[in-house]
Amino acid sequence: MKILLLFGSPNLNGSSRILADNFIQGAKEAGHSVSMLDIAHANIHPCTGCLHCGYEGPCIQKDDMKQIRKQILDTDMIVFVSPLYYYGFSAQLKILIDRFCSFNTSIHQKHLKSALLSVAWNADNWTFDALESHYKTLVRYLNLDDQGMILGYGCGTPSMTSHSIYPKQAYQLGRNLLIMYNCFGDTMCSSIKINPEDVKSLKEKFNIPFDIPTDTIKPNEKALVLYKEGKILPKLMSFGWNDKVFIINARQETLLEKPIFKKGKRCVIPASLFHEWSYAKEKVTFHSDNIMYLAGLYNQDNEFLIITTKSNDSVRRTHDRMPIILEHSQLEDWFNDTKFISLLRQEPKELEHEQKLEQLSLF
Ligand SMILES: Cc1cc2nc3c(=O)[nH]c(=O)nc-3n(C[C@H](O)[C@H](O)[C@H](O)COP(=O)(O)O)c2cc1C
Repeated sequence: MKILLLFGSPNLNGSSRILADNFIQGAKEAGHSVSMLDIAHANIHPCTGCLHCGYEGPCIQKDDMKQIRKQILDTDMIVFVSPLYYYGFSAQLKILIDRFCSFNTSIHQKHLKSALLSVAWNADNWTFDALESHYKTLVRYLNLDDQGMILGYGCGTPSMTSHSIYPKQAYQLGRNLLIMYNCFGDTMCSSIKINPEDVKSLKEKFNIPFDIPTDTIKPNEKALVLYKEGKILPKLMSFGWNDKVFIINARQETLLEKPIFKKGKRCVIPASLFHEWSYAKEKVTFHSDNIMYLAGLYNQDNEFLIITTKSNDSVRRTHDRMPIILEHSQLEDWFNDTKFISLLRQEPKELEHEQKLEQLSLF
């Protein structure tokens, strides 16, 4: 994926740069394409609040923002890099953030991945409270998909920073960015949810003694999984296999051939709904009248992935792949070593869908 660092320190060879360089090295080794913009020395004027842009349109100011805006909208991930200045972003980076005003909706709709790299002199545990809170609020407001923060406590000089654990952490953040977890590429069904109304019936049907998560579950988070060992049993497992690359889907067409999937056992993931991002990057929610049992595979590390097939008419407009969806009455066949093959090939049932163009509140 394309990653753009928004470098907000006026010191091009200071502590922030050490974290940025380490992050870049890790991300490049993981196969990403990375570039960095020197925001601190760019010609960017503060937003004047004229609202000529109407929060989405051309800005009347003539400066480097025109080009930077293009670069931001052409990337998959932005990384805010800033020294801690009076417990917040550097003014240079904050000026850039305020100028998001004229392409606010475009940023929101892009669902960019993001990260934060910062360094501070102070090492008290509250040092980054305000910056962290600001960053998380931006993630929420701008519909970003946070990949992590590296907050360098006690990184007052390049020498202090070099001797700290943070350069290595920045490297690892870049190195471990999920290559295969790409909602807009070949993978799909990257978030699922059980509605609170469905919890009771699931608990009764499968005799589940623990709390079932009802938040939206994304890769690397725990979801309810049903597997068979003599009888059908429930367990919380993590979404996505951490192999050489991170995998959240397997294609039914190659499932039985690929060596990597031979170590998997069949399972199902109950879901009231799943979300998909359309090619136009709109969020679409798919659901059915009943609880859907998504066909999956789990490995010995208690990680699961979802098996996909060619989309039916109800999903095709959004994505050409969809999960294999089983009925409750098909579970025994799914866990049967011969009968499951016909379920892999079955025509997926039609689903209801809602396409919400999420309304942006303007602050
Ligand atoms: C104007 C200014 C404000 C700063 N404010 C803070 C602060 O609020 N808390 C803190 O711990 N360090 C603060 N620092 C220290 C820097 O965050 C720290 O030295 C950092 O390593 C500088 O990164 P750089 O080498 O990329 O410029 C401040 C430094 C400057 C110049």
